[in-house]
Amino acid sequence: MSVSAGVMRSAHGGRVLLAKTPAPTRPAGSLGAVVSRTELPDLVPGLPPGYRSRSVTAEDTADVHRLVAACERELFGRAQTDAGRIAADFARPGLVPELDTRLVTDRAGRVAARAWVHRRCEVDVHPDHRGRGLGSALLTWAETRARQTGSPRVVQTVPDGDTNAVALLRSRAYESMVTEWLLEFRMPARPAVPDPPAGITVRPFRPGDEHDAHQLVQDAFDEWQERRQSYQEWARHTVDRPAFAPAMSMVATSAGGRLVGVALSLALPETGEGYVEQVAVRHDQRGQGIARLLLRSTFRAFHQRGRRTCTLATHSETGALNLYLRVGMTVRHSSTVFRKDL
Ligand SMILES: CC(C)(COP(=O)(O)OP(=O)(O)OC[C@H]1O[C@@H](n2cnc3c(N)ncnc32)[C@H](O)[C@@H]1OP(=O)(O)O)[C@@H](O)C(=O)NCCC(=O)NCCS
Repeated sequence: MSVSAGVMRSAHGGRVLLAKTPAPTRPAGSLGAVVSRTELPDLVPGLPPGYRSRSVTAEDTADVHRLVAACERELFGRAQTDAGRIAADFARPGLVPELDTRLVTDRAGRVAARAWVHRRCEVDVHPDHRGRGLGSALLTWAETRARQTGSPRVVQTVPDGDTNAVALLRSRAYESMVTEWLLEFRMPARPAVPDPPAGITVRPFRPGDEHDAHQLVQDAFDEWQERRQSYQEWARHTVDRPAFAPAMSMVATSAGGRLVGVALSLALPETGEGYVEQVAVRHDQRGQGIARLLLRSTFRAFHQRGRRTCTLATHSETGALNLYLRVGMTVRHSSTVFRKDL
């Protein structure tokens, strides 16, 4: 079947749930190994004529972002991913760019596709280069690379609307594992904010909150996340990201001033929308409406700055969909996390 995959990624670009996916083991000596590009043979076997491949470098971030944005525009009518997420994914601990990433260019040197694999996998083929087998070739490369590292499976997320990519994965024995949803909250009018529970105060995020927020999020997500993230890894996806919006990120504190909840937001440059990257409430403070308060306060802060829609992503393993529906959000689109045992 000649199907070129479109977008295969987490709908939100945030943390991806691989609670049941053990980290792959790498061959001894491969971690951090520097492999000269010229030593590597045909990097992506089976590419159609006229295409070449190489590994991705940090300097490619802008080109990769343009490619990903073109794929998203084709599928959703708007680009959702910011360059900060491309950079944060590229810096994943343990990812070896020379071995775990591929960039495909056409005869003119234009970027036609890219892929990376490291626990999970993303493959993007530019809309102008679909139907030529690039997606299949990159998928085969990703599976081969995952096998080399000893990974028991390869996991990737595909928007349900990307029917070609879904068909490609199904034809290659991928099975659906989890559903992800991108939710939206439209704000034609100023959003209402409920009164805080007794003893709880909500205020915008400010410098100095970073380490407490990291600790709180890691503790809160412990129930289902694959592994705790180091401060540096977490910060690259949140507070150090260029799109991070402290004034639209809210923290809840208890009477003693201790952090009990956070909603960390991004002002996405291209969509003009607000995006809530993470919501977490401390275990012993749940069920009092703190998450609802944080979200509503966030929505209002975005509204005050002229943004009229706010989005966030969640998935079926967190059980939080109901929370977002209860605060008035609706599902914009869904994606499926696929798994193939190797
Ligand atoms: C999800 C989480 C943020 C909810 O915080 P919370 O302060 O307990 O939520 P609230 O009390 O504001 O709940 C508001 C409403 O959502 C519902 N709700 C909250 N969490 C829910 C869940 N996990 N499943 C179903 N409904 C939920 C509540 O029942 C409440 O409904 P109501 O309107 O009928 O009263 C918290 O459980 C948490 O930090 N979990 C771990 C991190 C996580 O999963 N974050 C979301 C990832 S996308």
